[in-house]
Amino acid sequence: MLLDTAVAPASLDTVAVHAGRADLTTLGVHAPPLDLSSTNPLPDIEAGGESYESMATGGHPTDGGPVYARLWNPTVARFESALAELEGTDEAVAFASGMAAFSAAVTAAANRGAGRHIVAVRPLYGGTDHLLASGMLGVETTFCSPHEVAASLRPDTCLVVMETPANPTLELVDIAAVVDAAGERPVLVDNTFATPVLQNPAALGAALVLHSATKYLGGHGDVVGGALAVSAEWATAIRPVRAITGGILHPMAAYLLHRGLPTLPLRVRAQQATTAQLAARLVEHPAVARVFYPTVDGGDPQGLLGRQLRGPGAMLSVDLVGGYAAAQKLTSGRRWFTHAVSLGGVDSLIQHPASLTHRPVAPESRPGAGIVRLSVGLEGIDDLWEDLEIGLG
Ligand SMILES: Cc1ncc(COP(=O)(O)O)c(C=O)c1O
Repeated sequence: MLLDTAVAPASLDTVAVHAGRADLTTLGVHAPPLDLSSTNPLPDIEAGGESYESMATGGHPTDGGPVYARLWNPTVARFESALAELEGTDEAVAFASGMAAFSAAVTAAANRGAGRHIVAVRPLYGGTDHLLASGMLGVETTFCSPHEVAASLRPDTCLVVMETPANPTLELVDIAAVVDAAGERPVLVDNTFATPVLQNPAALGAALVLHSATKYLGGHGDVVGGALAVSAEWATAIRPVRAITGGILHPMAAYLLHRGLPTLPLRVRAQQATTAQLAARLVEHPAVARVFYPTVDGGDPQGLLGRQLRGPGAMLSVDLVGGYAAAQKLTSGRRWFTHAVSLGGVDSLIQHPASLTHRPVAPESRPGAGIVRLSVGLEGIDDLWEDLEIGLG
């Protein structure tokens, strides 16, 4: 009898540890090397020119090597291939920040020829909302709710943008439904909050998966970066934008991001477990009018938890009975929650979205004055709860 030699697909935990390391044995090293070269020696004019041409048109380096670090860097490429494997896409393209990644996606989409109109599902991260509303990238944006996507499309729509769970009120948007409503138009999903541990938008039809790698992917509050996980075709369209506009991720940042990936599943699950407990306690607290979290009543009206999102995540917001004054009190003087923007790190952060991350958003779409956002880290649940109780007090 023939043995069944089919190899089972590796689990996410295994992929997180091993992805992007395929060349290490050949290189004779155990840890991914950090290559800080800004330029690379060329074997000869012909090979150098060919490699340059390949990368300038969106491809990979050929025998002539990476040529110049604005075009390609092997440390960045290892992080990209790891992220692509985690997201289930052909490739990923990494940028100096999440906003640089988003700008490149919009530029690439607008240059594909359909037109320069974007449909954006609100709520979005304040910076994304602001960039689109400003028209700064030469695109016109129609903002809408998830069920208005189909009606907002125009013949010149080149991209549909959405985020789920959305920042800061953790609204869950049905990715497959938006993809369906968008028809032929590519859909970009910001997967920063969920991470590939909890959600894979590409499997639901998203053409572009955006990460602010600054957040969970980095996880330690010491990197700014961004990435787009995409098909080979999209990667070929996006890389020239990155090469020309100069938004490539720095190799040191790529090294740190890649180093953080093996613990990503563990971090997300542990941070999520604490957040779910905090959410349950906050619901009972008299100073809290509402808790925004997928497992809380009303947090998942479409039943997306389990179907689209594998877990509720480690971000949570509260609307305080005492409004702005209560938000001032809760965000100041905490022992374990640092009062700071950003999210997704091993240490807990607290911030007031209306004043900070969502300040540039149009007033009608800005979060309320009593809303405070928590990014829950790896600290002990009882320490975090005590800290919050004092602030809510
Ligand atoms: C959901 C989301 N998307 C995108 C961004 C932008 O990423 P970056 O700050 O890395 O440019 C952020 C930043 O806070 C974010 O929270």
